Amino acid sequence: MDATAGLGRDAFLLASLGAQVTLIERSPQVYARLQAGLAAAAVSDEPAIVEAIARMTLLHGDARELLKDLSPDVVVVDPMHPERTSTALVKKDMRILRELVGTDPDQLELMQAALACARKRVVLKWPRKGPPMPGLRKPSHQIVGKTLRYDVFMTSVAERIAP
Ligand SMILES: C[S@@+](CC[C@H](N)C(=O)[O-])C[C@H]1O[C@@H](n2cnc3c(N)ncnc32)[C@H](O)[C@@H]1O
Repeated sequence: MDATAGLGRDAFLLASLGAQVTLIERSPQVYARLQAGLAAAAVSDEPAIVEAIARMTLLHGDARELLKDLSPDVVVVDPMHPERTSTALVKKDMRILRELVGTDPDQLELMQAALACARKRVVLKWPRKGPPMPGLRKPSHQIVGKTLRYDVFMTSVAERIAP
């Protein structure tokens, strides 16, 4: 489950690796762009792209609400965060998203919704040196890259049903 679909780059990467990915995007403008992009890619001449797109399902709505009715194995959360500049492509993507979406001030609520429904884990994509999200529990472990880190929160059925 990609709870913050954006332009679909992360979800496409995961689908290319064989994962079935449900994408959720709440911005109508971003959703429309992504829907058009997926439709175009679905008729690509490249079979690997067509296969990856077939593993992707796009939903329109707020993940904080939609996740309540879902029980995915893994939820990936990549909210808008302070700008980073690793490549021109990332900068261009982020500029488009920033123009369309602005910021995501409710990201703690989204993380809480993700933690409440994920059967295995929640992965938060975050700037490498970014401060922890206020109010969020400590991650179980981190995968640290050059400019980004992935904070991994293991979940379990016991944790989900606890009051
Ligand atoms: C930084 S972008 C994600 C980029 C994406 N990972 C990619 O690879 O293109 C964050 C996106 O998440 C969306 N978003 C933020 N909070 C959301 C929520 N609660 N429900 C659905 N979409 C949300 C924003 O509208 C924005 O398009």
